[in-house]
Amino acid sequence: MTYSISIEQSKQLKTKPADETLGFGKYYTDHMFILDYTAEQGWHSPRIIPYQPISLDPAAKIFHYGQSVFEGLKAYRAEDGRLLLFRPDRNFKRLNISNARLSIPALDEQFALEALIKLLEVDQDWIPHSEGTSLYIRPFVIATESALGVAPSLEYKFMIILSPVGSYYAEGIHPVKIYVEPGYVRAVTGGVGNAKTAGNYAAGLKAQEEATEKGYSQVLWLDGVHKKFIEEVGSMNVFFKINGTVITPVLNGSILEGITRSSILELLEHMNIPVEQRQLSMEEVYQAYQDGTLEEAFGTGTAAVISPIGELNWRDEKIIIQEGRTGELAATLYHTLTSIQHGRIEGPAGWVVEI
Ligand code: COI
Repeated sequence: MTYSISIEQSKQLKTKPADETLGFGKYYTDHMFILDYTAEQGWHSPRIIPYQPISLDPAAKIFHYGQSVFEGLKAYRAEDGRLLLFRPDRNFKRLNISNARLSIPALDEQFALEALIKLLEVDQDWIPHSEGTSLYIRPFVIATESALGVAPSLEYKFMIILSPVGSYYAEGIHPVKIYVEPGYVRAVTGGVGNAKTAGNYAAGLKAQEEATEKGYSQVLWLDGVHKKFIEEVGSMNVFFKINGTVITPVLNGSILEGITRSSILELLEHMNIPVEQRQLSMEEVYQAYQDGTLEEAFGTGTAAVISPIGELNWRDEKIIIQEGRTGELAATLYHTLTSIQHGRIEGPAGWVVEI
């Protein structure tokens, strides 16, 4: 891609929300990035324009057949004022993996990163400063061709929007309560569970709604065949520390390969903590709980960062972990990861990209 990105500055800048009021995904910055695709021209017309609604034909394929993918990453402001991104190359690589699964044409990953950096330069004043805050970045692709035949769209839009955020969960960095879903399934191997596509999230809403009614923040999905092996929470991958070893479900084609997940695996290795990526059943977790060897559980994700899990409800049995408090390992990993992301300590080569 050799096109240059045009920039139309907004004439009416918004008032920025106070850091304490951010929550997650409630506010959007002044600008957004758009790139169009047509079968004739390929990806073209990259532009940064004022943040605004977009107009689509009611027959656009995104509305009917859900052909869309997205990513989530964050920009951070270091104490010395530097603007930092965490492993953005991984997000654009994964976006193309999702694109391939949904029959969406590949993007130029390097160009997508350039576009993001340009957008961040325009809206850099939106990167919040306080501890626990960041600028959440949501790149996404939608099918825009108006045609009701079921076939891959011939037109798309790739867009990037930005949202200043605090914690994803209302609990903040305090442990969350998770409901182990006994009935609904999120994904099966061979499906789209390992692609970051809108439908995976829509498919999880009903179970999440029911779990919320029971007082739980999210659901833990079990495998779609046996409903036995742990997969993921819809917004994060999960880790369990049992008898000194950290175990996370092995990527089996129905679990999203989280970038925070793989970063935590590298950090654990660096800390010389034994790690296993393998099938892990709820029976095994329950047994460990009964034996007193279930030491910690936590989730990882861009939005969730490291979220300790204080309670799991499985078959109406309450598995209380660390007496509902944050475990030492989750706290250490949270501190290490966020210190790398905010440029307070140096991480492995290439993890942090300065803008
Ligand atoms: C993320 O962590 O970036 C996610 O995409 C999870 C969720 C907010 C959908």
